[in-house]
Amino acid sequence: MEELVIRGGRPLKGEVTVQGAKNSVLPILAAAVLVKGEVTLTRCPRLRDVETSIQILRELGCSAAWDGDALTVDASGLCACAISDALMREMRSSVVFLGAVLARCGEAECGMPGGCEIGSRPIDLHLSGLRAMGAEIREEGGALRCGCRRLRGREIVLSAPSVGATENLMLAACGADGATVISNAAREPEIVDLAGFLNACGADVRGAGNSTVTVAGKRVLRGCTYPVMPDRIAAATYLCAAASAGGEIYLRDAKEGHLRAAVAALRESGCQIASDAGGISCRATGQRKAVAPVRTAPYPGFPTDAQSVLMAALLRADGATVFEENLFESRYRHVGELRRMGADIRVFGRVAVVNGVSDLHGAAVECTDLRGGAALCVAALAAEGETRVGCLRHIDRGYEDLRRDLSLLGGDVVRVNT
Ligand code: UD1
Repeated sequence: MEELVIRGGRPLKGEVTVQGAKNSVLPILAAAVLVKGEVTLTRCPRLRDVETSIQILRELGCSAAWDGDALTVDASGLCACAISDALMREMRSSVVFLGAVLARCGEAECGMPGGCEIGSRPIDLHLSGLRAMGAEIREEGGALRCGCRRLRGREIVLSAPSVGATENLMLAACGADGATVISNAAREPEIVDLAGFLNACGADVRGAGNSTVTVAGKRVLRGCTYPVMPDRIAAATYLCAAASAGGEIYLRDAKEGHLRAAVAALRESGCQIASDAGGISCRATGQRKAVAPVRTAPYPGFPTDAQSVLMAALLRADGATVFEENLFESRYRHVGELRRMGADIRVFGRVAVVNGVSDLHGAAVECTDLRGGAALCVAALAAEGETRVGCLRHIDRGYEDLRRDLSLLGGDVVRVNT
């Protein structure tokens, strides 16, 4: 078993280049299924979830090869439309392959996406949208069997702006006859990136980043080279690390425009954050201040994925901060681990109240989920003594190399085999 050993209590100083976005590259890899030709993704993060997507692509008959941080995928040889249960269980976002495979092959078969890391995470909006486009979907014994004579473009109104459902329907819409209009679509930057990729391949996707996304179907998609957007949640994690431990850092490629809600909260806590064309700097001196209630919401609201790392950054703040988690019901699993480090946090359903304490201390803790695990590292950088963070498989799903990046930022972090 591997652990991160973090010796905290000293300010950060350093620079890092932000990795490509996990939540952007996963749907783009699913979109590559639609393209008959070579797709090269640059700034492609080497993550466990990306490796899982590569395995899915290979299972479908596509080729995939790395060259440094560039991943080239060729779906010309696609010859299967079934994704094995084991791969579906590996990560939730495997479900986005459904829309793409259905659009390319007219049928798709896969297990139900696995994992109950942060809540129940239903896929009803994905399925009802695909059904509205003409797909017949049977749910049998934990498997989904989908077929369609043809997908038809139409208007789909999502009852909630689900990121995954918006992506799934955009991909299915590329293979549908006529135009698909997705209303109440998610507006996350990753949706804009997916649309950017599809359009670079020759698709006609309009409105991404707004609540109405229109896709003209049946365009021929050809290969392209596309840079994956920088990961805004990794960037938020490192800003929170600086807010937690203090110090001065620079995040190359980070975009403040993607991070407005998190940056506003960190500024309110007393951090000095500035951005230029190349990235974002953060200077954190003195003690953090508690901030106004942090309510997670779909973009451009405060991201649920940054809730845990901001909480970790405010554990020693002057005053109490209230968090309200509105997206996922089990997103405070890191709280028990933070308490081991001396944090004072009370949870009442979807609300968590963080009372600032004067000191945190090192402890043996375990990652409970991806972003919860990152929060433990953010807190550990500010804790006196040594923190041992176990269960790193969660962190490896979303951070290319958290040890490397935190070390480049001046943290005392080593990865050991136990
Ligand atoms: C994506 C992100 C995840 C992030 C989340 C919210 C990826 C790979 N993951 O997840 O990191 O935390 O957006 O920003 O991009 N819902 C339904 N029915 C559905 C689909 C969703 O009720 O069919 C609900 C969910 O339970 C949740 C809310 O809608 O309460 C938002 O979920 P959604 O936007 O779909 O999140 P994901 O795409 O799974």
